[in-house]
Amino acid sequence: MSSPLIEVLGVTKEVSDSTGRLTILHEIGFTLAERQSAAIVGASGSGKSTLLSIIAGLDTPTRGTVRLAGTDLFALDEDARAEWRARKIGFVFQSFQLLANLTALENVMLPLELQGRADAHTQATEMLRHVGLAERLGHYPRVLSGGEQQRVALARAFVVRPAVLLADEPTGSLDFATGETVMQLMFDLNREAGTTLVLVTHDRAIAARCDRQLRLEAGRLVDGGDPRPESVPAVDVCEAGRDPAVSAATGRGGSLTPAGDCT
Ligand SMILES: Nc1ncnc2c1ncn2[C@@H]1O[C@H](COP(=O)(O)OP(=O)(O)OP(=O)(O)O)[C@@H](O)[C@H]1O
Ligand SMILES: [Mg+2]
Repeated sequence: MSSPLIEVLGVTKEVSDSTGRLTILHEIGFTLAERQSAAIVGASGSGKSTLLSIIAGLDTPTRGTVRLAGTDLFALDEDARAEWRARKIGFVFQSFQLLANLTALENVMLPLELQGRADAHTQATEMLRHVGLAERLGHYPRVLSGGEQQRVALARAFVVRPAVLLADEPTGSLDFATGETVMQLMFDLNREAGTTLVLVTHDRAIAARCDRQLRLEAGRLVDGGDPRPESVPAVDVCEAGRDPAVSAATGRGGSLTPAGDCT
């Protein structure tokens, strides 16, 4: 059996503020093989984005670590980690994060240019053609629709042929039909390039299309991972969301209350 591509090992994330110390991820552990797709699901505030950012090396765990293709991300210094990320990981943010003063083509060329690739122009053009934007190369993000911007963001994430694609609610702000197109594109690219895909989604149908579903509840992995049985007390995040003590501890008012997932 081949070794796992992503190993999340006992990842705990604690944050401190004036109200005290808060654990937002509790000893998360799971592994993903090359080419696998996994959906991270769970109510609002359960820790999905935090976990994805840690897998990307954009945020650091308080304890535990992430190994990517056998390399411990957090044993690397910041520069080495950034370089490793640029070569291995594509990240699609819900809010696109395109650079407003660069055209669609320039946005997609950027990660290739950072790698000193001489074929940046050709590769970026080809990738934009692949996502159906061949006619929009010279257009700036502000004149593109949400779905078009999301496709530019996908093209930018895929153009370096990353081993791993991480996407945080990539269709969260798109209408159903556009979201469906973007999602299909993501699975197609995932299959064609053999990319391991991890996506955060609130959409059960999308989650069901992934090989694995990892469910977070109040920072704990309660389904789909490799947790130690004794370390997984069932926490009802709907109840937690209503608990004023939790709100007080987070200082975020009702931010733990799931939107639409609890009745
Ligand atoms: N730096 C921080 N300081 C304090 N609390 C934080 C910090 N970062 C995240 N949190 C809290 O940790 C919890 C998990 O946040 P996260 O953004 O990972 O949730 P999420 O599952 O992605 O939610 P959503 O579905 O709403 O995007 C939230 O309650 C959030 O307020
Ligand atoms: Mg989130």
